[in-house]
Formats: sequence, C-alpha cells, structure tokens
Amino acid sequence: MNASAQHQLNARYGSDALPAPAAWSPLIEQLLDHRSARRFLDSPVDDARLAAIVAAAQSAATSSNLQAWSVIAVRNGDTRAALADCAGGQTHVRDAPLVLMWLADLARLAHVADGAGRPHGALDYLEMFLIGVIDAALAAQNALAAAESLGLAGCYIGGMRNQPERVAELLGLPPRVFAVFGMTLGHPDPSEGTAVKPRLPQQVVLHHERYRPLAEQEEGIATYNDAMASFYASQRMNVNGTWAVHSAKRIADGSALTGRDRLGAALHALGFALR
Ligand SMILES: Cc1cc2nc3c(=O)[nH]c(=O)nc-3n(C[C@H](O)[C@H](O)[C@H](O)COP(=O)(O)O)c2cc1C
Repeated sequence: MNASAQHQLNARYGSDALPAPAAWSPLIEQLLDHRSARRFLDSPVDDARLAAIVAAAQSAATSSNLQAWSVIAVRNGDTRAALADCAGGQTHVRDAPLVLMWLADLARLAHVADGAGRPHGALDYLEMFLIGVIDAALAAQNALAAAESLGLAGCYIGGMRNQPERVAELLGLPPRVFAVFGMTLGHPDPSEGTAVKPRLPQQVVLHHERYRPLAEQEEGIATYNDAMASFYASQRMNVNGTWAVHSAKRIADGSALTGRDRLGAALHALGFALR
C-alpha cells in the first residue's frame, strides 16, 4: 500500500473511505496537492517561469487546433489594482506579482480568415464562443498545474466576469475577445497556511455507463457536508451553514451572480452574437 498516496487521498476527500489505487504517478501526486493561494511573497514571477508556464498551457488539447484563446500577463501594479476593483475588490489580485488574464479569442481567427479572403460567419454562433472558453480553460488549468510544479501558487479569478466591458477596456481587447477569468500567480506566503480542500466523494461524481439517480447521491453529499464542516473548523473559517446551504446561496437568484446576471448583454456588446 502506498502510504503517501493514501494520505493525499484522505486530505482530498476529508475521509479515508477511498483506498489508494494501485495506479499512481508524480503528476497525480502534484495535482492532488492543489490548493488556491491568496497571499504571496514579494518576489516576482520571472520571464523564464512565465515562458515555461505558457508552453505548458499551449500544450493542452485545443478544439480542431484552432487555439481560440490568448493570455495577457499583467504585472503593472495600477492595472492589477484596477482589475482587483473590477473583480469586486479582491485584494489578492492587487497584491499578486503576476495576474494572467485568460481570454476566449475569436478575433485572431476572424483576422486569419479575412487574410485568407474567406468568410467567418460561424464565429457568430454560441458553439464557437464555447470553443474559445473551453480552450482557454484547458490552457489555464495546464498553466496552473505547471506553475504549481515550479513551486508557485495562485487562484482563478472568476470575478473578472463581474464587469466584462471594463476589463476589456483595461486590457485593450478587440471585439470577439472575452476575459473568461483571471489567475493570480506568485510565490505563496507560507503564513497563509493553505490546505487541501476536500471534494465530493467519487461515488457522487463518478457514474458508470448511465447517470445514477440523484437520490442515490444524497448519502455521499451528506458525508461531504460533514467533511467540509471539519475543514472549515480546522481552518478556523466561520462559514454559516453546510456546503449544501453555501452552494444553494450561490445559486439562489440572479442577484447572487454579482453582476454576471447581465453576462449575455455584455458578451453581445463585446462582439459575440451567440446565435
Ligand atoms: C473558474 C474559477 C473561478 C474562481 N474565481 C475565484 C475568485 O474570483 N476569487 C477567489 O478567491 N477564488 C476563486 N476561485 C477559487 C475557488 O474558490 C477554489 O478553487 C475552490 O474553492 C476550491 O478550492 P481550492 O482551489 O483551494 O481547492 C475560482 C475558481 C475557479 C475554477
């Protein structure tokens, strides 16, 4: 039995219910150790690390090799502060040495087609927007894993979708380019004391052959509510209610979306027809 794998799994699920599988690897080990970081040391993320991280990002699979994404590396303090403000005043965006802005980018494809004297009407469809978002997300997750392998840490910033037009203006985005999310990166401040946050048990998310009825997921969800309660207590986090209540609050109504309830209109304004 792989004791260190078992230890990692126990942390990932907040329980010892899943025996360590015989299959294991250094990459899996690293992925299981992920935790978001929101406090950073003063030292910058240098260009060598940035180049390696972006090469890893570009190694992700991409729909039809269209590579419908781009990334902007933001180091300028004023821009970071403005982005922090766009994202609802998240101070860790201002304080991180590097903020990567992950973009769904259909502008380059339009430009390439124009250059080839060819039409690009398909770019106006929701499907193409989704391709850009998926490509950006796959690249970003490769980047985060690569950064973590270099001893860096960071956090996705979905708050960048609170005010998409303002973010677009700050970054000089042309039409048909949308900031899907930001990502802070830096050398983690050990005093933050980040911990691996438990996830739902596998029997809740892993289905075999056909979707298992929701009623059969209830037991695993109850187990998870307990695991998260222990996690919050161990982290001295004062969270009101269970994970289920917390999640329900997040989806209660449009106003829970902190401005993103008008995302459809914002995307139209940014040049996405979304037919
Ligand atoms: C797309 C996306 C957007 C996120 N946006 C934010 C954000 O705006 N601010 C923040 O502090 N964390 C944000 N997070 C981090 C999540 O809260 C975090 O990943 C989740 O709680 C699990 O914790 P862990 O990453 O430490 O395992 C985001 C994560 C993802 C994947």
